[in-house]
Amino acid sequence: MAPTPTAGLILAAGKGTRMKSDLPKVLHEVAGTPMVRLVVAALAEAGVREPVVVTGYGGELVRESLAPDGCQFVEQAEQKGTGHAALMAAPVLGEFEGPVVVAAGDTPLLTSGTVRGLVEEFLGSGAQAVVASFVTFEPKGYGRIVRDGDVRVVGIVEEKDATPEQRRIQEVNAGLYCFDSATLFRILPTLGTDNAQGEVYLTDVVAAIAAEGGLVTAMTADDPDEFMGVNDRWQLAEASRVMRLRVLRRHAMNGVTIVDPTSTYIGAEVVIEPDVTIQPMTVLEGRTEVETGAAIGPNAWVKDSVIGRGCRVFMSHIDQAVMEAESRCGPFSNLRPGTRLGRKAKVGNFVEVKNSDIGESTAVSHLTYIGDSTVGARTNIGAGTITCNYDGFEKHRTTIGDDAFVGSNSTLIAPRRIGDGAMVAAGSVVHEDVPDDALAIGRAKQENKEQWVASWRERRSGQRDEKANSRP
Ligand code: UD1
Ligand code: CA
Repeated sequence: MAPTPTAGLILAAGKGTRMKSDLPKVLHEVAGTPMVRLVVAALAEAGVREPVVVTGYGGELVRESLAPDGCQFVEQAEQKGTGHAALMAAPVLGEFEGPVVVAAGDTPLLTSGTVRGLVEEFLGSGAQAVVASFVTFEPKGYGRIVRDGDVRVVGIVEEKDATPEQRRIQEVNAGLYCFDSATLFRILPTLGTDNAQGEVYLTDVVAAIAAEGGLVTAMTADDPDEFMGVNDRWQLAEASRVMRLRVLRRHAMNGVTIVDPTSTYIGAEVVIEPDVTIQPMTVLEGRTEVETGAAIGPNAWVKDSVIGRGCRVFMSHIDQAVMEAESRCGPFSNLRPGTRLGRKAKVGNFVEVKNSDIGESTAVSHLTYIGDSTVGARTNIGAGTITCNYDGFEKHRTTIGDDAFVGSNSTLIAPRRIGDGAMVAAGSVVHEDVPDDALAIGRAKQENKEQWVASWRERRSGQRDEKANSRP
């Protein structure tokens, strides 16, 4: 028998007033990813595909953000409550027969395992609805689960509508449900707004099912963190912390040494091979990949880059760059977009490299700018070398061959080619190409004036004595 397909419905129309932001709440990021995308990902991993997302406030932005995720969208023009939001999906899901998972776009810590468990519980129990719940000493703000004995749930009461006695209930609604879709869309249009907030509550579906003799159960979670609803920026920060530790733990379990989890930030999409060491105060973002044996940090920031086998990154900033095996950078290197360091290449302190290829075993060790350049293998670039790649209108390329030597404090005016095995004398301004194996000297010729300083010193001290004697 083919498994029952499960539909998905994500409520994401609210503004999130308590965030005090113009950005729709569900687009605020947790560990670098908009919250609603994390919810969509958890559902997808559990096999709930192409969920219907209800958008409203900032709908266009939400749809844009979810464009790569294969969602269907419906609009809730006015935010009249979670039940009203769910009802907006009727044109898409109204005919669907089977389970529908309903989640909120503001529960970013949801995992696929829990979604799977919820659907299994729904299919196994024969209930018309299963509600995810958790027990907490701080139930404030959540809907309370009202039970009739051990199994049956007979209602969910919102904090604002609860009696003092109901407020003491510590089992709360996590905001994640699995409904029989036909039952849900039959009941939703019948719900009223007779409550403290004058809204249509999705939670009222539970009492309606119970009233007509149906069965609603609750699935209690072990890890309430997972259901943390983000309503303000402090909850956003707390969710980010939980998510960050989750990611770090995953890498640690895969064989990555995380020296200090309190100061290490790794984005959800970063890939790290075993036997990598991440030192304190390191941030790895975007689609960064780190290969085995590499060591990064302390104090490194790496985004959308590849750090190859056995590389060393120390106190550096790396953006859209590729470091091949055993290359090194830092301290204080700035590898900008389009940089590639070949095997065993070395970039040192206060060196900026942009849109350039640095060849195998080449060293650019100190105080240098290499922009729009191709540098060959085994070449040495001396301290203070500058490629002048910009003439105020256009960028030009510099090409430096293999086994070349560029003396310290040289200025290479692009477009320029310095040949294989060529040498540039220190302090040169290079404005002509340098042939292979040639020496270029582009600086004023030095002249030594014998005894010049001695006679100057004598002259000056004589003048000083004259001045002192003539003082009254
Ligand atoms: C809701 C539940 C509460 C539960 C809590 C869990 C209701 C009535 N209450 O309360 O029992 O304990 O979640 O976190 O459902 N939304 C819309 N359109 C609307 C209103 C809300 O799309 O008109 C969306 C929001 O964007 C949000 C989600 O629904 O993603 C939840 O709304 P929110 O206002 O945060 O509900 P809570 O008060 O947290
Ligand atoms: Ca909420």
